[in-house]
Amino acid sequence: MSDRLHTLSGYLYEYQKSIAQPEEFWARIADSFHWRKRWDNVLKWNFDGPDVKWFVNAKLNITENIFERHLYTIGDRPAIIWEPSEPNEPTRTITYRELFVEVCRFSNVLQDKGIKKGDRVIIYMPMVPEAAIAMLACARIGAIHSVVFAGFSSNALADRVIDCEAKAILTSDGNYRGNKKIGVKSVVDEALEKSSVETVIVYQRTGQEVTMKDGRDFWWHEVMAGQSEKHVAEEMDSEDMLFILYTSGSTGKPKGVVHTTGGYMVYTQYSFSNVFQYSPGDVYWCTADIGWITGHSYIVYGPLLAGATTLMFEGVPTYPNPSRFWEVIEKHKVNVFYTAPTAIRALQAFGTDPIQGYDLSSLKVLGSVGEPINEEAWHWYHTHIGKGRCPIVDTWWQTETGGILISPLAGITPTKPAYATLPLPGIQLCIVDPEGNELKGNSVEGNLCIKFPWPSMIRTTYGDHDRCKQTYFSTYKGMYFTGDGVKRDHDGYYRILGRVDDVINVSGHRMGTAEVENAINEHPKVIESAVVAYPHEVKGQGIYAYVICDMTNRTEENLINEIKEMVSKIIGPIAKPDKIQIVPGLPKTRSGKIMRRILRKVAEGSLDSMGDTSTLLDPDVVEKIIEGRK
Ligand code: PRX
Repeated sequence: MSDRLHTLSGYLYEYQKSIAQPEEFWARIADSFHWRKRWDNVLKWNFDGPDVKWFVNAKLNITENIFERHLYTIGDRPAIIWEPSEPNEPTRTITYRELFVEVCRFSNVLQDKGIKKGDRVIIYMPMVPEAAIAMLACARIGAIHSVVFAGFSSNALADRVIDCEAKAILTSDGNYRGNKKIGVKSVVDEALEKSSVETVIVYQRTGQEVTMKDGRDFWWHEVMAGQSEKHVAEEMDSEDMLFILYTSGSTGKPKGVVHTTGGYMVYTQYSFSNVFQYSPGDVYWCTADIGWITGHSYIVYGPLLAGATTLMFEGVPTYPNPSRFWEVIEKHKVNVFYTAPTAIRALQAFGTDPIQGYDLSSLKVLGSVGEPINEEAWHWYHTHIGKGRCPIVDTWWQTETGGILISPLAGITPTKPAYATLPLPGIQLCIVDPEGNELKGNSVEGNLCIKFPWPSMIRTTYGDHDRCKQTYFSTYKGMYFTGDGVKRDHDGYYRILGRVDDVINVSGHRMGTAEVENAINEHPKVIESAVVAYPHEVKGQGIYAYVICDMTNRTEENLINEIKEMVSKIIGPIAKPDKIQIVPGLPKTRSGKIMRRILRKVAEGSLDSMGDTSTLLDPDVVEKIIEGRK
């Protein structure tokens, strides 16, 4: 790609230019894309609205930039390599030309079902190529996709279906988890009891028994049969919505983060090519699920826009054994490997035996995403997987940022363990103190904000613009607030310190404490609860719940199990508390506010640094909580 940086001085020069003349900078990057109509202005913005528009009035379709733009040059190159969960099942390799045909055919299917530009379509599917085909077909016809992680419960799915008023759901019969078949369509059926979704299309993956509702449910292979391989893409405005992705915040229900078309396209390709230093022909593997933003930007859109070969893996790191990742790297000669610290720590726990005998010499670049990587895991990854020769790109970003904002450029930026290092071109970071004063210079620590728009940033929260404003643009005036704490060291390098709000990061998955509390409180015996994070060896953070219960006719053990089940049913197994402590009361201030600081200290076992408890309504309750600590 012509917009790839090659040297540190080149990066520093481009960075300066991107700050001094952002519009010229992004116009130049955007020039390599196919626009049906060019923009009138590169950028119009204010952060008070917020109202941000990139490539104003430009017309395009993102899938034309994946397919038509370079089909003649790379049509026969593998676009997706799919590795199934079961090692003995055959892999699938789909070229750009073949993928294009499938996307066109499925676009025709969606239009046959009456789905039009602007309609919302939920995708609730396992990690199969058809999930990517579904996303791209939506984008091609101008429908707005909202992918929901297939591990979420029917309640969580129903909330999202209702919030975005989805017209259709694309799903599968089941999913493989290890050697088990998990129902997927059955979860959709439950979720749809309360909604008016008109169409459900079911991809057959496991062959398990499912119920199909006449007139609403259709088999993927049946509706695809005989469809034309030709499809003319819908013309989209640069600021038309591309997708909605729900994510947890510190309050209320998950919110639908909205990304639009032009800016997201430009930024995901640019960041992908530069961060990973992708060279044509490389095999790139990101282990995320397409249900998360990492899957959107760096399994599907970024790599495919860049003409890369992206590997999709259906399974988990430890099935059938903890060598599975290394076996896949050897088998497909993976060059770039991008995973989460939680997976690294989980595999690290098995020692180095599972790596022995696998040829990892194809690896050139390693990546990390989703949570802070501790130094020990960084060194293990660097030494045992990268054999000391592969740069690690520790990439910091968020669902809301759409793409990677802080990261080394592989092989170019000197790395430091646990540091995301430096911002990408165009990214204007700002560290502020609690009053919102910018902390200038190096060796400072504070809250991370961004003071200038970038192309792939959140535009709104679906159906509730004020929530977007309140959550991200009101804490510090004129700035986007990330919710993360950060340190800039003496070299000007950035180290992310973790969330400063009530968001927990469990194995790289975001969870709002309020969301988990609300689920716990659904249990009829629960009177009140408070949820905090505590350090967890593998997951990074674990969920610790303090619960006040009515214990009549219940033992502690069965209540705890029932509460865990409740959370699993309402949100999904990923939100299940690791520890539940039944308590007689919660530490509250005289005005009734729960002192989470104290609960966090107890959960992490820092019992001697409890701080001032004199303002509590009932200081004795802290003693009782400490006594019953899990
Ligand atoms: O706290 C940061 C953490 O994950 C949060 C964003 O979560 P989500 O929207 O689910 O997106 C995850 C994948 C991009 C951030 O606010 N986070 C993400 N990457 C890193 C990180 N923390 C430290 N280092 C990272 N590299």
